[in-house]
Amino acid sequence: MPPALKALIAQLSGLAAAVALARAGLLGGLWPLVAVQALVAATMAAALRSARWWLPIHLGFLPLAIAAHGAGIHPGWYLAGFIGLVLVYWTSFRTQVPLYLSNRATAAAVARLLPQQPMRLLDVGAGTGTLLRALAAARPDCRFEGIELAPATWAIGRLLLRDLPNVDWRRGDLFVPDWSAYDLVYAFLSPVPMPAVWAKATAEMRPGSTLVSNSFAVPGREPDAVIEVGDRRGTRLFVYRLGERTKHRSD
Ligand SMILES: C[S@@+](CC[C@H](N)C(=O)[O-])C[C@H]1O[C@@H](n2cnc3c(N)ncnc32)[C@H](O)[C@@H]1O
Repeated sequence: MPPALKALIAQLSGLAAAVALARAGLLGGLWPLVAVQALVAATMAAALRSARWWLPIHLGFLPLAIAAHGAGIHPGWYLAGFIGLVLVYWTSFRTQVPLYLSNRATAAAVARLLPQQPMRLLDVGAGTGTLLRALAAARPDCRFEGIELAPATWAIGRLLLRDLPNVDWRRGDLFVPDWSAYDLVYAFLSPVPMPAVWAKATAEMRPGSTLVSNSFAVPGREPDAVIEVGDRRGTRLFVYRLGERTKHRSD
């Protein structure tokens, strides 16, 4: 069952329980009923095996909504907040890839992986282009490309990268373009798309090219190298060298 459907069922179950208790005259007053709704919603989410981080969301959702309603904030702010979040997170409910950005230490570690000679790198799911900005400045002899799906992050990246002549910045789905033209493909996504990323890499990338995944290993594949970036979040880069053997192993 999709996580969003589980969340809806959990919230509606909580509401149904609170309404049933109120109708039966067993419980009265706004906050006791809100507490019941929140507890039942969290319990239902646990029963549906939602990820653990959903539980505090269910516990806090209706209490916070009611508290915010009481604060008299103009409804336009909620609409603006909602639209802003949609433009940043776009289809992450489907892709299961949220937004977090590669830091400077990671960009430096990726720069050390680049060969001496000019090359082409593609950042798949490029966020606001922070990685590409650092790399493009460090290596003006190389071409850097980024593809990003969410409109707001894409627009911010376009602004930030506008003065860099060796960067191509595109809006689109990372699974659409052909990856065969790139010497290195960089991914900082989530565990969910990694099997599909690996399938695409092995189908399209040239022998001798490299796939680098920040933080998320390809399930069931031994990386050729693991680089400890040495930053505070303990970033690890999983490095996969593509070769003829890789194609056979993925069949
Ligand atoms: C974790 S961020 C990484 C951003 C950037 N690569 C970096 O390292 O700073 C992942 C990004 O991938 C984007 N994304 C997720 N699925 C995508 C897809 N199918 N096609 C293109 N972009 C996608 C998200 O919108 C998000 O901005």
